[in-house]
Amino acid sequence: MFITFEGGEGAGKSTQARLLAEAMTAAGRTVLCTREPGGAPGAEVLRGLLLSREHDWSPPAEVYLHFAARAEHVARTIQPALARGEVVISDRFADSTMAYQGYGLGADRALIAALSRLVPVRPDLTLVLDVSPAVATGRMAARRQALDRYEAMGIGFHGRVAAGFAAIAAAEPDRCAVVSADGGVDEVHRAVLAVVARRRSVAA
Ligand SMILES: Nc1ncnc2c1ncn2[C@@H]1O[C@H](COP(=O)(O)OP(=O)(O)O)[C@@H](O)[C@H]1O
Ligand SMILES: [Mg+2]
Repeated sequence: MFITFEGGEGAGKSTQARLLAEAMTAAGRTVLCTREPGGAPGAEVLRGLLLSREHDWSPPAEVYLHFAARAEHVARTIQPALARGEVVISDRFADSTMAYQGYGLGADRALIAALSRLVPVRPDLTLVLDVSPAVATGRMAARRQALDRYEAMGIGFHGRVAAGFAAIAAAEPDRCAVVSADGGVDEVHRAVLAVVARRRSVAA
């Protein structure tokens, strides 16, 4: 089973991915928790290039770099774990490229869709965490880390990203579940567990 978390900055993806991994581990599953961009040694090098504020990539170059990192992540980390029968939980995956580069930066969405179709694994379930802009901004401020290249982009960009995630989820309701993420950590975690339980019973 391959599960992805998607959503904007401060939605709680990393927090909820870790909590779901802990819950599934406690239930006896072997879980591999990973992230994008990155998730394999070479892909983490590309992550550094993508998130650093030193480079202002052209939109197509940025798309290809994300898919290069993803190819490495899929081949080195995700496919081997799925072949071992593990649950793979990824903090971001291909939908983030569509939302950030496609909707947010105006890169060619047909190109991104075509490259996405060529990725040899598809999530069984994608949890799209939906956070209101004010809540997300508050969480990012509380984190008090230096902003990476995407976090530093303006409110217009983040609004387009959020609209992109909503469109992606609406277009693929069998794969995607939108989870309201404004509540507390435990409340969101319970909502995530409810979606996972429901989808598994449907799949079984
Ligand atoms: N439901 C929540 N309520 C309050 N704070 C949260 C919640 N979820 C996450 N946080 C905090 O907000 C910040 C961003 O959460 P994080 O999981 O890193 O989001 P993301 O990975 O989506 O950017 C972190 O400091 C985290 O501890
Ligand atoms: Mg995160």
